[in-house]
Order: sequence, then structure tokens, then C-alpha cells
Amino acid sequence: MTTHKPIKKAVFPVAGLGTRFLPATKAIPKEMLPIVDRPLIQYAVDEAREAGIEQMIFVTGRGKTAIVEHFDVAYELEDTMSSRGKDMSALEPTGATPGDIITVRQQVPMGLGHAIWCARAIVGDEPFAIFLPDELMVAHQGGTGCMKQMVEAYEEVGGNLISVLEVPQEEVSSYGVIAPGAEKSDTLVEVTGLVEKPPVSEAPSNKIISGRYILQPEVMRTLETQGKGAGGEIQLTDAMARMIGEQPFHAKTFEGRRFDCGSKTGFVEATLALALEREDMGDELREIMTRLLG
Ligand code: G1P
Repeated sequence: MTTHKPIKKAVFPVAGLGTRFLPATKAIPKEMLPIVDRPLIQYAVDEAREAGIEQMIFVTGRGKTAIVEHFDVAYELEDTMSSRGKDMSALEPTGATPGDIITVRQQVPMGLGHAIWCARAIVGDEPFAIFLPDELMVAHQGGTGCMKQMVEAYEEVGGNLISVLEVPQEEVSSYGVIAPGAEKSDTLVEVTGLVEKPPVSEAPSNKIISGRYILQPEVMRTLETQGKGAGGEIQLTDAMARMIGEQPFHAKTFEGRRFDCGSKTGFVEATLALALEREDMGDELREIMTRLLG
């Protein structure tokens, strides 16, 4: 087995305006909306840490400082809680390692490809991961998270890797879609083409990009010359498509569950699903839901 450069950095594009969740997101970033009691962004950062990633790069914008505060040491809380003898576990994880959270700003909303490009100086010449925090990837009981599964696949095939999942054909035009090639295993397939938000009739498959990527640093150079694509934005998918054939490109199907928290119903579904599984509230919530449904 060849060794590939390890994935130590992850980029989190979090500059989006969150218009779909207004008015909740007027003064707080959508990434800070909680699923039960942890903000969305924390699920993504925890998934990154589980996969061995050490440096978190947030591509932020105006009004997004709460995200950075969340990962800082909350001195006043710690001090007050410890002096009152309170359980501190709810504060974990804190921003324990100095320097592991870095922010860069995306000054203009020009698309996902542009947001990733804003992190080029910090990514440097290393392969890196990308997390779209809207996509909440939940491991099966006792299983590993999405990025960890991807890193394991990357250790075998190297190059570029994206996570995919199948959706009903009529939904493909909301996503990036892959053209699948040769199968390497049940959950790993070569990618021979990529298209962002195609019309249903032109989609090469129903396998959509589900918000997790491992990419080689060359994508930054490709993004530099990337013109506008779907929605008039600089699309990451278009830049990745140009790398197919130059470098290995694979898609991994996550063995776990995914919730699209970019939509309101997906957000509520995630909240209910995770709450129902919690020991401290699952039974009570099941009763409440039965009552509400009746
Ligand atoms: C982005 C990507 C798309 C991907 C999707 C996953 O789209 O451009 O390829 O399938 O995230 O959620 P967006 O949701 O930002 O329009």
C-alpha cells in the first residue's frame, strides 16, 4: 500500500447568509442553530477531530464571530461553574488546543468554490478536507463517522474523494451529481464526471455530493481560473470536474445516516431523530410525540 500525505487540515465554509432560516439567522449564524443542545458546527468539528484532523479553517464573513467564540475557552462559565461545584462536562469540547482554529474571511458571496479558494494560503501544499456543516452525518451505533470512513478509503486510493449518497431522481437538481465509473467496492466508486445542479433529465446518476470532500491542493490552482457556473457562482464542483483524469477521483458512500439541515424539514427531522436516541430524553419525547400525533 502506498502512503498518502495525511489529512490534517479541514476547511469549513461558514460565510453563508442562512436566508432559509430567517428570522432565526438574522443575528446568529445558521451554523450555531442547535440540534438538541449542540450547534450544527460542533457536529462537523467533532467529526473532523474523530478523523484525525488537527487544524480547523473557518471561512467566515460578517456577523459570524459567534462560531469562533463557541470553540474558545469560556473562562467566565468555567470559573463560575467550578466555584459552584457544577458538572463541567456540558462545556466540552472547548477550544483546548491553541491555534487549532483559524479563520479567513470571504468578503463577497461568490459561491462555494470561491469560499474554498479563500483558504488557499492556509491550506498550502497539503491535501485537505472540506465539511459543509449543513449536512449532518451521523454514524451508526458503534460505527465511525463519515470523514473517518473517507480517510480510510483515501489511505487506499489517494487523490480526491467525495462523499455521495443516492437521492430520488427528482431531487438531483439541488445538488452536485457524479457520473460513476468502475466500482472498487460496495461503497467506493470511481468518478468519471461531475455536474453541479443539472436538470433532472440531464443528471448522469442519482448519486449526489453530500458535503464532505478530501481534495488535493491543486484544486486551489484550478479554482483560480474557474468561471461562474450554476446560479452565477464559482462552483467547487466545476473545478473538481476539471481535475478528473489528471488525478485519481473516487466517491465514497457513507455507511451511516445523513440529514440535510439546510432545509427546515431536514433540520427538524435531525432534531427529532437525535433526541429520540438520547438516554436523557428519548423515552419522554416518544411519549410526547405519540400524544402529539394522536
Ligand atoms: C453544495 C454543493 C453541491 C452539494 C451540496 C450538498 O450546494 O455545491 O455540489 O451537493 O452542497 O449539500 P449548495 O447546497 O451550497 O447549493
